[in-house]
Amino acid sequence: MDIRIEKTTSPKVHPDPNTLGFGEVFTDHMFMMDYSKKEGWHDAKIVPYGDLVLSPAACVFHYGAEVFEGMKAYRTPDGDVQLFRPMENIRRLNNSAERLCLPQIDEDLALEVLTKFVEIEKDWVPAKKGTSLYLRPFLIATDAKLGLHAIDEAKYVIIASPVGSYYKEGINPVKIMIETEDVRAVRGGTGYAKCGGNYAASNRAAAKAEEKGFSQVLWLDGVERKYIEEVGAMNVMFKIDGKVKTPKLIGSVLPGITRKSCIDLMKSEGQDVEETFITVDEVIDALKAGKLEEAWGCGTAAVVSPIGLLSYEGVDYVINDGKIGELTQHLYDELTGIQWGEKEDKFGWTLKV
Ligand code: PLP
Ligand code: COI
Repeated sequence: MDIRIEKTTSPKVHPDPNTLGFGEVFTDHMFMMDYSKKEGWHDAKIVPYGDLVLSPAACVFHYGAEVFEGMKAYRTPDGDVQLFRPMENIRRLNNSAERLCLPQIDEDLALEVLTKFVEIEKDWVPAKKGTSLYLRPFLIATDAKLGLHAIDEAKYVIIASPVGSYYKEGINPVKIMIETEDVRAVRGGTGYAKCGGNYAASNRAAAKAEEKGFSQVLWLDGVERKYIEEVGAMNVMFKIDGKVKTPKLIGSVLPGITRKSCIDLMKSEGQDVEETFITVDEVIDALKAGKLEEAWGCGTAAVVSPIGLLSYEGVDYVINDGKIGELTQHLYDELTGIQWGEKEDKFGWTLKV
């Protein structure tokens, strides 16, 4: 497909790489492409970053018909730019879209427009250690009709933001509260899809946790509130008595690409890893018995993030003396080593742009 390119005439000043937060500044351009039932995907363009003009009746505003992705472009030591497992994000975007009845995007086309966009914004990929260019593709329904109906019109947009670490703690352990009232997702719902509605449903518990000084909440299953699912913006892993356990993907948890990569890495190194049901009681019992050696979250934004404290029913439990564990540190080093091109990519996960 032809991609029309309109370069900005007023390039922005790049932010100081030493003070980058997460998702607060945006690059010079954005990618946009429209969908209609009649024409399919058309009018692909890279244009100056700016506001979207949509009808106030657009479906996305009323019924939450939106899915998104989160991925990063990394600057390697020799100055190249690379993506990490981009096809995984593209496939997940289509899986999410399928759940919400949004139109699919051909995988090759999705990769072509993504790499073209990153190429245009290449100078925005910061070089400082621990920084990257966060890419946020999203797909919204734009039909201007209030009746509930199948989607006829949509828009696919990609924006980009130079970022530092997601948590203010950086690689230092975060404090997480186990949520016992609200639930994020149920089997048969949209938990496995990366759609805005899941995050809207999470807001109340997250706000409550933040007020109490926690970084995020750990969700329990939506039926019995008994099984561990995931953290607000990351999947979760526990090392109990030498063995790593992570919640099984049963439809209510986001199938994280960082999760999958951590599992692949650990298995390749002979570490025992089990994708299974984990009860909250099992975790608390292991904590009390001194058998919970390490806990961490993993996600694109959060990378690999140690959990130093878990709070459950008003009691705070410290993990590994509130310090980063050996395996957590190892996973962080290996994964970021591959992503930033400092370590050999034995798995073929990276793609140069
Ligand atoms: N779980 C949730 C709810 C998330 O928002 C994310 C972030 O994308 C993840 C898990 C981790 O997924 P990934 O590793 O693909 O970024
Ligand atoms: C990501 O890690 O890419 C995410 O989507 C997390 C986001 C909700 C902040």
